[in-house]
Amino acid sequence: MTAEASWSSRTAVVTGGASGIGRATALALAARGASVAVLDKDAGSADEVAARITADGPGTGLSSPCDLSRVGEIRSCVDRIAERFGHIDILVNCAGIVGPRVGLADITEDIWDSVHAINLKAAVFVTQAVVPHMTAGGRRGGNIVNVGSASAHRAVVSSHPYASSKAALESLTRTLAGELAPHEINVNAVAPGVTATAIYGENDDDEARTARARQGPTANLFGRFSQPDDIAAAIVFLCAPESRQITGQVVHVSAGAVV
Ligand SMILES: NC(=O)c1ccc[n+]([C@@H]2O[C@H](COP(=O)([O-])OP(=O)(O)OC[C@H]3O[C@@H](n4cnc5c(N)ncnc54)[C@H](O)[C@@H]3O)[C@@H](O)[C@H]2O)c1
Repeated sequence: MTAEASWSSRTAVVTGGASGIGRATALALAARGASVAVLDKDAGSADEVAARITADGPGTGLSSPCDLSRVGEIRSCVDRIAERFGHIDILVNCAGIVGPRVGLADITEDIWDSVHAINLKAAVFVTQAVVPHMTAGGRRGGNIVNVGSASAHRAVVSSHPYASSKAALESLTRTLAGELAPHEINVNAVAPGVTATAIYGENDDDEARTARARQGPTANLFGRFSQPDDIAAAIVFLCAPESRQITGQVVHVSAGAVV
């Protein structure tokens, strides 16, 4: 089977696929030939990305509106995707929120739980719902990529719930790599540094961005923001046959913010 043929028979679920890094990843996987379900609570933007995937080809897009804070809705959403595609080969857990930036004294149970609900808990239950569709009928092989953050590795002040959730997501990546290896499913993470998206820096001017990339806890060696496509390229590699020997790893895409 040629590389092109193998991509064209593959199907992907990208959570948070309506915006930023998830959107870039959904488009990049589809450009290779995969069919992609855009799972996001923002139904309008998910529709737009899915329609663009189908229009641009060769992959087919499917809009899958779902609020990941409602764990009870996750399985039925994933089952609908699998029913439409027949099976699922790739999962990118990309949806994430930063939450309010507060110091230790001001963390509330609500803030802590809401950030972990999306960044960590949803990734667990989306993965739990997807894996049976990767392994159904004795199928082997699959790729899962979790989107972590350089914040898990640095002392970013007032970022306790966010950094903690992303550190735990890396741990989950390692334990799942062990559990799913018998099914030939690769589980890896990417850890982006500052990236120009709605979550962080999209509305800043160049000067403000450059300052954040050059100084302080989010600084990196190149002194520049990443673009969503930079992160998407690493995710696509971790879903490609060329990375078959890589599992349980965290790939930093942060211009050297963490070395
Ligand atoms: N932008 C950065 O600087 C940066 C750095 C490190 C890590 N990250 C991580 O990258 C990932 C993508 O973030 P982004 O920067 O592209 O931001 P973004 O805001 O552009 O995208 C996040 C997406 O997640 C979706 N989402 C949020 N809550 C949801 C919910 N309850 N149910 C379903 N979907 C939900 C949003 O609708 C949005 O489409 C996140 O996990 C984020 O933590 C981003």
